[in-house]
Order: sequence, then structure tokens, then C-alpha cells
Amino acid sequence: MNVTRFCPAKVNLFLEVTGKRPNGYHELATLFAKIDLGDTLHITAEESAKTHISLRITGPQGKHIPCSPQNLVWKAAQQFLEQCGLTARIHLHLDKHVPTGAGLGGGSSDAAGVLLGLCEIFNKNPLDFLPLAARLGADVPLFLYPDTFLKGEGIGEKLTPIPAPQALPQLVLVYPQVAVSTPGIFGKMTLPAAEEILTNVAKLDKLINVVRNGLPLTAWKPLLFNRLEEYVLPFVSPVKKALTALAPVSNGICRMSGSGSTVFALVGTNQDAWNVTKALQHIKMLVYPVSFYRSPSHANYRNKNTSRG
Ligand code: C5P
Repeated sequence: MNVTRFCPAKVNLFLEVTGKRPNGYHELATLFAKIDLGDTLHITAEESAKTHISLRITGPQGKHIPCSPQNLVWKAAQQFLEQCGLTARIHLHLDKHVPTGAGLGGGSSDAAGVLLGLCEIFNKNPLDFLPLAARLGADVPLFLYPDTFLKGEGIGEKLTPIPAPQALPQLVLVYPQVAVSTPGIFGKMTLPAAEEILTNVAKLDKLINVVRNGLPLTAWKPLLFNRLEEYVLPFVSPVKKALTALAPVSNGICRMSGSGSTVFALVGTNQDAWNVTKALQHIKMLVYPVSFYRSPSHANYRNKNTSRG
């Protein structure tokens, strides 16, 4: 059987680091938002006497990614079969559009896409694969949910979906063509003071309220935050350059996503997003006008539940 899945990327509208676990992982208070920049994954799978997995990667961002068992999508397929006690022939074709090392969760979304696709093919419940997703990577579980906005706590695996109205801002992403290492950034950070964490966590709750109610952009602006900016901007000059270019054309409503390197701005309309994209034509960086991503399965889920209720 074949399935094709769109694997959306994410940005962090808010990210505070609230603690550190003995295993070195950091506790976060974050707001993830899925966007309609993404990869396309084609999966072919059928049960067979022995497991055989193959992977092909194409697309503008796929050139230097190895097609080996070390790839997260390969690991996701292998571990899915192990959890189900199945053996199968699986072929994965990943068409890569999301840059890697970009703070956009592209690899994590692809791995979640494999789990979701295989659940569809082998008739399994995706929620049974949340622990496996968390073992694959801290950002994988969020992509198993159909929701656009999710509050993330713990290391990012404690997730609360945030409902939001249809009318929302648009975004412009700027990828400065450098990769940032997530472990490298987390490795050099020191925890903020307890009072600062408390104040910021309250700010996250305010932002969630703003998203939930679809308030105007002026309400979003003072609430966007990313703790990791102070560990990236002074050291990775292309990221600083990207944010400096984006700020004046977006009324300063811009931030870095995750541990970088992508920065994003929020703007009012589609036309505004194209205007900002045009204004940034001169910089030698990748600029993407995008929207928040609404999953079709989420729409079905909501319709079903609305018609029942
Ligand atoms: O889980 P993932 O593979 O995405 O994380 C990559 C690295 O980033 C981890 O090995 C860890 O060093 C760091 N990290 C962290 N705290 C998180 C997420 C990631 O310290 N919540």
C-alpha cells in the first residue's frame, strides 16, 4: 500500500528554558506553531517474511542528507515495526524542502510522518506511538498531533493543543543558509534566574490567550520570546544579519525559531508577506512567505466532532 504525507515544519513563537534534567536535556516552556512549509513523504509498505527498508531523498534541501539507517525516518520505520512485532518491505521517498539545522523541526516532522503513514497502512493508533516518538527526538511527538498550535512543556513532549480561529497572521521565514547545532546551543546555556522564568511563563500564558482569541498583531508583538537568541545571535553572524534585515520590514515583530538558524516575522496578510519577501530580495538568504498549517485530518476531526455535538 502507498501513502503520501505532507510533513509540516514548525516555528517556536515562544521558548523559555525552565530547567535542566540529569541526562543533560533541558526543560522548556514553549509554543509550537506548524507552518505550511514542509517536506513530502511517499511511503510504500507491505508485510513480508523479512524486514527490508530503503530510502531515497530528493528536493532542494535533500542534496547532502545521507540515505542511511542513521536517518531519523529510517529509524522511525525500523522502530515502528519492532513495536508492532511486524516484518515488512518499506520504501520511503522523502522530497526535502525544509532546511536542516534550521530550528524548523524538519527532520522531526519527517520521522513523525513515517509513524503516521505506517499507522495508516497497518491500521494502528498514532497515539500509541507517542513514547517511541519522544525517544526519536524531543520535537517528534508534537507532529503526531493534528493541531496547529501546541504548548510544549517537559523537554517538549508534554503537549497541550491550543485551539485557534481561522483568521490568523501570516509569516515570513528567513533561512540564513547556515546550520546551527541544537546540542551545541543547549550545551553552552546557563539557566535563567527563577523569577525571570516565572515572569516569562506568565507571558507564555498571555500569548496562548492571544492566539486562542485571534487578537491583532499588536497583541502578539510584546509576547514573542526566545531564550536561545542570546546564545546564537552574538556568535552566528548570518542569523543576526537575518534578524536585522527582517526587523525594519516587519515592524519588529520577529524572532528566531528554536535554536536557529531560521528567523521569522509575523505580518497581517498574505500581501504583506509578499511585500516583505520582495523587500528582502537583495539579501543572499532563503526567504519564504508562509501560513500557519491546518491539517486536513484536523479539519475532518473537528467537523466530525462538531456534527456529532
Ligand atoms: O531530541 P533531539 O535529538 O531533537 O535533541 C538534540 C539535542 O538537543 C539533545 O541531544 C540535547 O543536547 C539538546 N536538547 C536539550 N533539551 C531539549 C531538546 C534538545 O538539551 N528539550
